[in-house]
Amino acid sequence: MPHKTIDALDPKGKRVLLRADLNVPVRDGQITDRTRIERLCPTIRELADKGARVIVVSHFDRPKGKRVPEMSLQPMAEALSAALHRPVAWADDCIGPEAEAAAAALEDGEVLLLENTRFHPGEEQNDPAMAAGLAKLAEVFVNDAFSAAHRAHASTEGVARRLPSYAGRLMQAELEALDAALGNPARPVVAIVGGAKVSTKLELLGNLTRKVQVLVIGGAMANTFLAAQGRPVGKSLQEAEMHGTARRILEEAKAVGCEVVLPSDLVVAPEFAPNPPGMRTVSAAGGVPADMMALDVGPDTVAGIEARLRRASTLVWNGPLGAFETPPFDAATVAVAQTVAALTQSGALKSIAGGGDTVAALRHAGVLERMSYVSTAGGAFLEWLEGKTLPGVAALEQVAGGRERRPEA
Ligand code: 3PG
Ligand code: MG
Repeated sequence: MPHKTIDALDPKGKRVLLRADLNVPVRDGQITDRTRIERLCPTIRELADKGARVIVVSHFDRPKGKRVPEMSLQPMAEALSAALHRPVAWADDCIGPEAEAAAAALEDGEVLLLENTRFHPGEEQNDPAMAAGLAKLAEVFVNDAFSAAHRAHASTEGVARRLPSYAGRLMQAELEALDAALGNPARPVVAIVGGAKVSTKLELLGNLTRKVQVLVIGGAMANTFLAAQGRPVGKSLQEAEMHGTARRILEEAKAVGCEVVLPSDLVVAPEFAPNPPGMRTVSAAGGVPADMMALDVGPDTVAGIEARLRRASTLVWNGPLGAFETPPFDAATVAVAQTVAALTQSGALKSIAGGGDTVAALRHAGVLERMSYVSTAGGAFLEWLEGKTLPGVAALEQVAGGRERRPEA
C-alpha cells in the first residue's frame, strides 16, 4: 500500500471522520443489499475498539444539493447499528452547529452517523467551505469509501487535504485485491458492462476497449448502442443523445482490435412488470416492436457470452444484463453468473465483479461466494481499471517512498 493505513494511526480519544459509502441499493424503503454496510464494519469496530470517536459520513443517492427527505441517511443509523451490534448516534446535518455538537458529545469508542453529504451543493462542487466544515468535526480523516473515490467531492477529496488522512480497511482491501487480480491480468480479458446508469458509464467504455480483448454490453446500455446502429428499440430505456458517443466507441474498439459483443436477441414486453403478458424474444437485428421494451438479453446472446467466457482467462463484470430484480428478466444474468461461477471454481477463469447492482445480482444468482473477488465499487472500479487516478485515493497521505501500482493509463 502506498497510502497510510490505520496501522499508522493511534486513534485513542481522537475524533475520526470516517468517509463510508452507505449508498446501498434501496427499494420501496428497504435495503436490498447490505454488502457495503457489512464490509465497512471492520474499520468502524477496529477504530472504536481502539478508543476512537467515530464520525461516519456518506452520500446517498443523488439529491443534487437539496434536502430530499426520501434520501435521508437516518434509516441507515439503525441498519449500521444492527450490523455493528452497538449504538449509532445520529445528527441531522453533516456540517454546521448540529453536526459539531453531536461530534463534540461523543465519548471514546462511540459511533455517530451524519446526514447525507449531498444535501449540500458544496459536496459535489468540492467547495472548500464544505471541506472545511467537515474537517472541523474531527482531528483525523479515514477514507473507507473506495466505491466513491472516483468522485472529487468535499467529503472524499477536499477534506482529505485538510486533515491527516488514512485508508480504512475496506479501502485497503479493495486496492490490494484489485491490484493483485488486475494489475497485470491474464489475457484474454473479457469485460461485461451492463446496468441502467447509461450515460455515466458510456465514456468509460471507450477507455475499456483499450484494456480488454472482448467487451460485452448488456442492460439498458445495449439499447443505446443498438439504437445508434439504426435498430428499432421501441419503448426501451436508452439515451438518444448518446448515439454519437456509442458509434465512436464502436469505431475505437474496431481500431484497437477489441471485439464488442452486443445482444443478438432480446426479451421484450409491453410493460415492465413481473411475468407480463405479451412477453417474447425477438432478434436484435429485427428490432424491438414500437409498443414493446427490451428487459433482458435473450438465450442466443447468453450462449454467445458463455462461448467467449470459455475462451477467456480474466473476467471483469459491472452491471446486470437485464432488469434482474423483476422475474423473469433475471434469466440471462443468472445464467451467465452460474457459468462464471463454474469456470471460476474450475480454475479456468479469474472473475472480478463490482458494483451495487452487480453484487445484488450475483447474490440473487447464489454465486456471490464463488467469484474470485467482489468489489463494493462500480464506477470507481471501472475507472481504476482504466488506469485513471481516483481523486479520493490520490488525496490520502502516502507512505514514504510509496508508489501506486495501477493498470497503465
Ligand atoms: C456508487 O454507488 O457507485 C457510489 O456510491 C457513487 O455514487 P454516484 O455514482 O452517485 O456518484
Ligand atoms: Mg456509481
